[in-house]
Amino acid sequence: MYKELAKYYDLIYHWKDYKAEAETIQNLIKKYKTSDGNNLLDVGCGTGMHIKYFRDEFACTGIDINKEMVEVAKTKVEGVSFKQGDMVDFDLNIEFDVILCLFSSIGYVKTYDNLEKTLMNFTNHLKKGGVLIVEPWFTKSAFWVGVPGMTTYDGEDVKIARLNSTKVEGDLSIMEMHYLIAEKNGYIKHFVDIHELGLFEHDKTLEIMEKANFKSEYLKDGLMKERGLFIGVNQ
Ligand SMILES: C[S@@+](CC[C@H](N)C(=O)[O-])C[C@H]1O[C@@H](n2cnc3c(N)ncnc32)[C@H](O)[C@@H]1O
Repeated sequence: MYKELAKYYDLIYHWKDYKAEAETIQNLIKKYKTSDGNNLLDVGCGTGMHIKYFRDEFACTGIDINKEMVEVAKTKVEGVSFKQGDMVDFDLNIEFDVILCLFSSIGYVKTYDNLEKTLMNFTNHLKKGGVLIVEPWFTKSAFWVGVPGMTTYDGEDVKIARLNSTKVEGDLSIMEMHYLIAEKNGYIKHFVDIHELGLFEHDKTLEIMEKANFKSEYLKDGLMKERGLFIGVNQ
């Protein structure tokens, strides 16, 4: 997943307002966090697009499973420690004040079993009074099964067209993404990237959060349309 596409990631998501999203997150941290430190961990941090807006106020660490994404983040965002690791079982041996898991990265754990392990792992990396903010993927009923998707980027030196199909198997959404990328050198590259994300129901997620020791709630109005946000405070 992503791999050779990591260097195009920021172009593909050029439409996303990371700065505004970071401001919303910052306000939520102020509202919910009761621990007194400023250590922040962004899980599934990608190319570090959110974290770059947090590094002035927080001591930031980013973690992502994908080596190529971590490499892009390291070259782009200074003053932040980026590590490669799987959110299900990473072990940093640090307790943070804030853990973020944004833009539906949590969906990639695919199963409820892994979701539980991941949330337990987050608890183990959070101080008492520390806050967890998770932006989920879609629930099964909200997922646009069968509807094709298209994203384009029309730059001077790079042009990208990404088309995808969608299907559902059990509690898993599967998106086959086809990329056509044209660059200045005259070549056109074609990549196929398969994304599989678990379709987790909100009540079940809240139940698992409570089990993982979070006082938790779901906010319907979050960062992106129809995704919302889960907030958990480690008790
Ligand atoms: C949609 S991107 C979001 C990236 C970033 N948070 C953003 O907002 O741009 C999902 C990210 O989750 C990462 N990811 C997927 N599975 C993961 C796992 N098990 N542990 C850690 N990161 C994971 C991917 O490599 C990818 O960078």
